Amino acid sequence: MDSTEPCSREPCSREPCPREPCPREPWWSGATIYQIYVRSWRDSNGDGIGDLPGVIEGLDYLQWTGVDAIWLSPTMPSPNTDYGYDVSDYFGVHPELGTLDDLDRLVSEARQRDIAVMLDMVPNHSSDQHPWFLDARSAEDSPHRDYYVWAAPRDGGPPNNWVDATGKEAWTLDEASNQYYLHNFLPTQPDLNWWDDRVHSEFEHILNFWLGRGIAGFRIDVAHGLYKDAQLRDDPAPGPDDHPAVQARRRKQVYSSHRPEVHGLYRRWRQIADGYSPQRALLGETWEFDIQKFGDFYGRTAPELHMAFNFTFVMSPFRARDLSEIVEGTLAALPPGATAVWTASNHDVGRFPSRWCGNDDRATKAALVMLATLPGTLVLYYGDELGMTDVEVPPGRQRDEMSIAQPNRPSRDRCRTPMQWSNDANAGFTTPGTEPWLPLGDYSSTNVATQRAGPASVLSLWRQLSQLRRQGLIGAVSALEHLHLDDNLWAYRVGNALSVLNLHDVNATYEVPGASRLLLRTQASTYDLQASTGDFEGELRLGPWEAAVLAITP
Ligand code: GLC
Repeated sequence: MDSTEPCSREPCSREPCPREPCPREPWWSGATIYQIYVRSWRDSNGDGIGDLPGVIEGLDYLQWTGVDAIWLSPTMPSPNTDYGYDVSDYFGVHPELGTLDDLDRLVSEARQRDIAVMLDMVPNHSSDQHPWFLDARSAEDSPHRDYYVWAAPRDGGPPNNWVDATGKEAWTLDEASNQYYLHNFLPTQPDLNWWDDRVHSEFEHILNFWLGRGIAGFRIDVAHGLYKDAQLRDDPAPGPDDHPAVQARRRKQVYSSHRPEVHGLYRRWRQIADGYSPQRALLGETWEFDIQKFGDFYGRTAPELHMAFNFTFVMSPFRARDLSEIVEGTLAALPPGATAVWTASNHDVGRFPSRWCGNDDRATKAALVMLATLPGTLVLYYGDELGMTDVEVPPGRQRDEMSIAQPNRPSRDRCRTPMQWSNDANAGFTTPGTEPWLPLGDYSSTNVATQRAGPASVLSLWRQLSQLRRQGLIGAVSALEHLHLDDNLWAYRVGNALSVLNLHDVNATYEVPGASRLLLRTQASTYDLQASTGDFEGELRLGPWEAAVLAITP
């Protein structure tokens, strides 16, 4: 093969690559990233908690499923009041999950399988047990005091009206100094003060430490929230036009979060990430429902984040008109050349097979087709590939403090239950006889082993979709053209791929324009491409919640 010819997206052993620059770069654009909530994925030592050696054990499976990268939920030492989102040491590995050596080994074993490893970076706040905060709290003139946000009481109470993620006051009084510290999440998660240059230097050091070890990039926690209003002004109440998620918080976070200064920080971090080869990726957790402001995170005048999570899409109703409108609006709001990210489940918002699809595998398969065929990078949450659903976790077994503090809302534990590997005891997640840290869902048929053997399973569909993505046949980073939209049916074209989704429980038909080849349909009895597909022309009949993908003959 001529060295200037682009290679296919089939797995390659990138190092050494004879072609420079590598035609698969940037690797993250159009990739499939798989989120692993490490405590829940695979337990290698029988303590009921998933760990890094467990992730290493699962790499062959990940390679088989066709993912390009994994994003590990926080791996750093933490008192676990928010399971790693309360970091007490930004340079280490939580002993429950393994060691730094295990992480290095994971990076190197993953690379051999052409899988990149991304970490979760938590720069909005640290743990209250981090040495910085212990020092900050020890005295008003301590060296680290200004690493955090402190303010004097107002009228004998908190400095302003900000509320934290549980709906309570976002301020806790430090009695010794009669000053309040800010926490937009739990009181054990004090917010860092990004107006202090030393915080910038600390995090540049942290980023370089991990990038230099071969980490492929970061998912940036609370990426919209790092800066707070310098004057600590009161947040206004949400208006009737605000997104329901904003209304639920009772405050519109225009001062406690969402400050424009954060863009300067991401321009700097982008330079850092782009200074490595292969280029490292920054993927922001950007809770921003104003779609233009959401697009701003990619950078308007200079590059910022490589990718950003789109919560307007995540929180959309699973209806053809809503989804198509949001997709169109999103693609229009991104700067030219930007890569959209499509995701529908994570460790906070729940699993899409429940939220969107009512635990109906037919709808789950249609949703997977949509996620895999929209133009851009796809982030799957562990278990999405099996159609794993939310699990009702009884109050006595709930572990998430943020949820326990809000008993009227569904617990985040529902979507953090262990990965279902087989129908053996404990779903193969941990040793038989050990109690997993969270209870298991119904794994009788929703498990890797059973679904691998089932040609019509959700997993078999996912594997076929991932192969089509790797061959560049679907999900290409190119324009999307709407071909048909009504209350039930949505058809769109990306590159030469035509996706037809019936998002309703009645039959539907669609007249395929021109000649094409059927690549797959979700209610087929097998996802073996050879057996189920072929030339197609004319009327496509879809069953309830059925989706199909066709390759248009150019
Ligand atoms: C992000 C995380 C969430 C965590 C919070 C505080 O939203 O996804 O799990 O509780 O930040 O770090």
